[in-house]
Amino acid sequence: MNLPYAETYRIKMVEAIKTSSRQEREKWLKEAHYNLFNLSSDKVFIDLLTDSGTGAMSDKQWAAMMLGDESYAGSSSYYNLKNAIKHILGFEYFLPTHQGRAAENVLFSVLVKEGDMIPGNSHFDTTKGHIEFRKAKAIDCTIDEAFDTTKFHDFKGSIDIQKLEKVFLENPLEKIPFIIITITNNNAGGQPVSMQNLRDVRKIADKYGVPVVFDSARFAENAYFIKKREAGYADKTIKEIVAEMYSYADAMTMSSKKDAIVNIGGFIAMKSREIYEKATVFNIMFEGFITYGGMAGRDMNALAQGLDEGTEYETLHSRIEQVAHLGGLLKSFGIPVQEPFGGHAIFVDAKRFLPNVPKEEFPAQTLAIELYLESGVRGVEIGAIMADRDPITRENRFPELEFVRLAIPRRTYTNNHINYVAVALKNVFDRRNEIKKGVKIVKESPILRHFTVELDKV
Ligand code: F0G
Repeated sequence: MNLPYAETYRIKMVEAIKTSSRQEREKWLKEAHYNLFNLSSDKVFIDLLTDSGTGAMSDKQWAAMMLGDESYAGSSSYYNLKNAIKHILGFEYFLPTHQGRAAENVLFSVLVKEGDMIPGNSHFDTTKGHIEFRKAKAIDCTIDEAFDTTKFHDFKGSIDIQKLEKVFLENPLEKIPFIIITITNNNAGGQPVSMQNLRDVRKIADKYGVPVVFDSARFAENAYFIKKREAGYADKTIKEIVAEMYSYADAMTMSSKKDAIVNIGGFIAMKSREIYEKATVFNIMFEGFITYGGMAGRDMNALAQGLDEGTEYETLHSRIEQVAHLGGLLKSFGIPVQEPFGGHAIFVDAKRFLPNVPKEEFPAQTLAIELYLESGVRGVEIGAIMADRDPITRENRFPELEFVRLAIPRRTYTNNHINYVAVALKNVFDRRNEIKKGVKIVKESPILRHFTVELDKV
């Protein structure tokens, strides 16, 4: 018999979490205006809202915290992080930021101007937000296979090279400041991008003379999938694969809260001294001096250590197998999910799950609400509410896919928690035909509305 996978860590400290009754949850959710972001965390039993900043740091990361150097300028923690970035990712220049969207803010302040177009693969919501805030446009060139949850594709996060080239052929070159590739592609379901695709995008970028930026939140999970699925990589280490991936990038933005397994932090890294110098001005203005930029010294130390651990095969294997464990259980119950399973989360296809709820009544949000009421499990809507209104017409945008994302924090929950989540969702699935009404928006902000939206039952 093949030995099953098991976590490659053991637990040294625990945190209590609380169960609750359905009656309590009904009251709390009403008070939260049916927005799960408004719930205080003690009202959530298992929190799969995000895998961002919610992972458990290792003993070595905590030890590194104690050695943090809090000097304003030139701290040893800055140099530790600089060395880790150079060594693992290959970038000469870097700027620390307080998280990923801050990295976007600083870098886009240099690169994006009004009227620009930025092609990429399912830009993450803050990425799109930072582009649209500058009156520029994010153009989604993700391959069509990503939009059909039943279609199997090894690298569903990839960019369609023809769609990408079309953007260059149909628009003035000076309007396209760079190409952005999100690895893994979060909004398509944590789906990876192949090395071949990274190479092909690089070719287009070279042909038209524009830089390539990697939105790198889950770059190590992407490397894991390349190792597992792409010919020629099975015998390479994750770090070797990562080094090749970044040989095709000019710059990266990083939310360290994901694959670098820290609770807060981010950075921008680049090969161009010119972009670095321009970005430095904005970094000092928005984030902090160049050697800390929004991070404490101790946090930079933990991040340097996390980059190393996060790019180890063992870490990635137990994580991605746990995600697949949830996916496998849901599939065995007949629940429609994005396949193949992604790296950080299982994405439940809400349109197929709740066919009786019209898209105008936000099926994914409705399902996230039902799951919470059933079990105290918190997921997140990745659908029409998150998609915001069109910045020009102000009409609701209805993306092809309505997902409830069940994101699994790194090294945090056991498989018993995962089993609980799966059964909770099965119970909702068993009564899916009785769920015919969704929710309506009562109050919303003009951009990134999902965080603060207020809803009511239809
Ligand atoms: N890019 C991607 C692909 C992301 O998933 C995120 C954050 C960011 C950028 C922004 O980074 O949060 O550090 O400012 N994703 C989180 C999530 C919030 O839940 O998927 P941040």
